[in-house]
Amino acid sequence: MKGIILAGGTGTRLYPLTKVINKQLLPVYDKPMIYYPLSILMLAGIREILIISSPEFLPYYKKLFSNGSGLGLKIKYAEQEEPNGLAESFIIGRKFVGSDSVALILGDNIFFGQGISGLLKNAREQSVGASVFAYWVADPRPYGIAVLDEDKNVISLEEKPKEPQSNWAVTGLYFYDNQVLDIAANLEKSKRGELEITDINNTYLARGELQVKFMGRGYAWLDTGTHEALLQASQFVETIEARQGFKIACIEEVALRMEFISVAKFKKMSKQMDPSTYSEYLKRIVSEFEPKIKKRKLN
Ligand code: TTP
Repeated sequence: MKGIILAGGTGTRLYPLTKVINKQLLPVYDKPMIYYPLSILMLAGIREILIISSPEFLPYYKKLFSNGSGLGLKIKYAEQEEPNGLAESFIIGRKFVGSDSVALILGDNIFFGQGISGLLKNAREQSVGASVFAYWVADPRPYGIAVLDEDKNVISLEEKPKEPQSNWAVTGLYFYDNQVLDIAANLEKSKRGELEITDINNTYLARGELQVKFMGRGYAWLDTGTHEALLQASQFVETIEARQGFKIACIEEVALRMEFISVAKFKKMSKQMDPSTYSEYLKRIVSEFEPKIKKRKLN
């Protein structure tokens, strides 16, 4: 399975923060926003990743991750000339996806919660159709929503409804089989002028091939599109990290734990972060992790 992170957009709701910088490069507490969605793809076991952003900002992402080998990944990059909508990912990424299945995650989405790796693995293992995640939110109006019947079957999906018939928002993480490439290629722009991901999901729904997985309230799904949401996300990450002593979306740690990289490579990466509390954290992680690996190898 391939992975795509869509990290373009205009970020107009965050003006003036995003007047000269791309939203997904902004900090969420102690790391750039894009680390959070990247860590989710990594936790899903995806190692070939395409980062899509605007021509202006793509060089920054290249500088940040290079070819991904430091994290045991293969990262490629592609331009989105204009923010023509989320579904354009599969037109831009067609060659990259090839004959594979693909997961798309939005660059401004943050997920956290126990069991998330299992949830991702489960979605990944589904070989036919599409899987999306529904999450109950107080205000669903800014999102695509899932309208359900009494048995929690999805009746329809609606994009940013003015009068939502449900509080189940569809999150910015989607798993598709290879059909998505042709579905996207045949889409027409919506009234608001975008190639809509909801139209892709509705096509799968009409084919009886859409699975909606419910992300319960024990999970956190945050987006960072407004000033309030951005601050709340930073505060959430700071609170959890201070309390537990473990970082959320520390991509080097994920790479180590997923065994994408060796301990030696991890140590090299840690040094590059000197001097910072981030590098101190990485050093602590490896000092706890190394004896476990050695023990595992002996057994
Ligand atoms: P949005 O929040 O819908 O759009 P935006 O980021 O441009 O912000 P605003 O509404 O404030 O102008 O985008 C959701 C995510 O998808 C975000 O991570 C940016 C990304 N995106 C693209 O990369 N390309 C696109 O064409 C669109 C519509 C969004």
